[in-house]
Amino acid sequence: MSLNLIVFLGSVREGRMCTRIGKFIQKQLEERNHKVTIFDPLEMDFPLVKKPLHFYRADEVPPAWLVQRNALVEEADGYVAISGEYNRCIPPALSNMMDHFPPKSYRCKPCSIVTYSMGPGGGCIAGMQLRYFLGELGMVTPGFMFINATVHTAFTEDGTPTETNDTAVSKGKRLVSELEWYATALKAHTKEVGLP
Ligand SMILES: Cc1cc2nc3c(=O)[nH]c(=O)nc-3n(C[C@H](O)[C@H](O)[C@H](O)COP(=O)(O)O)c2cc1C
Repeated sequence: MSLNLIVFLGSVREGRMCTRIGKFIQKQLEERNHKVTIFDPLEMDFPLVKKPLHFYRADEVPPAWLVQRNALVEEADGYVAISGEYNRCIPPALSNMMDHFPPKSYRCKPCSIVTYSMGPGGGCIAGMQLRYFLGELGMVTPGFMFINATVHTAFTEDGTPTETNDTAVSKGKRLVSELEWYATALKAHTKEVGLP
């Protein structure tokens, strides 16, 4: 089944690494015929969250960009969060972007976690926090977390794994297969019985 997926990038930093992994994951998903939309906090220029969509009252008109992007989040069957690690935490660009949308839009859908860092830790501490954060937003996180150490030497700028990075493709496939499993199962069950 072809799925409608969003990949959230987690950095606006000058010289950021998130696009390398983002391109790699996008390719892995598209090779399986899934539709991929990239939510890029730099290109989309998300402001610091002043008012999430669900904080607008019925008599207020939310900005069109927020409504349109929320429609994409609502329509998606699943997500991938691509996260670095800033001071042992989730990068603020990622949580800020995701905080704009109501938990209802993400509810009962899977979000796979991909982490990275330029050091040996691979961003796994931020990854553990992401499990909690994404759960609070109503998503489930498949068990496999794709952790990438020394990202600057593991992927080229266009998202190609380097010669020494011989496990990226098999790990990418594992991530995609788990995401597919959860997204397909949850979509079918939601269609059958609705949301809890
Ligand atoms: C503010 C800041 C804090 C960082 N903190 C950590 C950290 O806690 N752990 C780590 O492994 N790397 C840390 N790093 C290094 C990042 O792993 C590296 O810069 C990575 O490329 C960040 O992702 P980005 O390039 O997509 O912004 C930090 C970098 C920045 C800019």
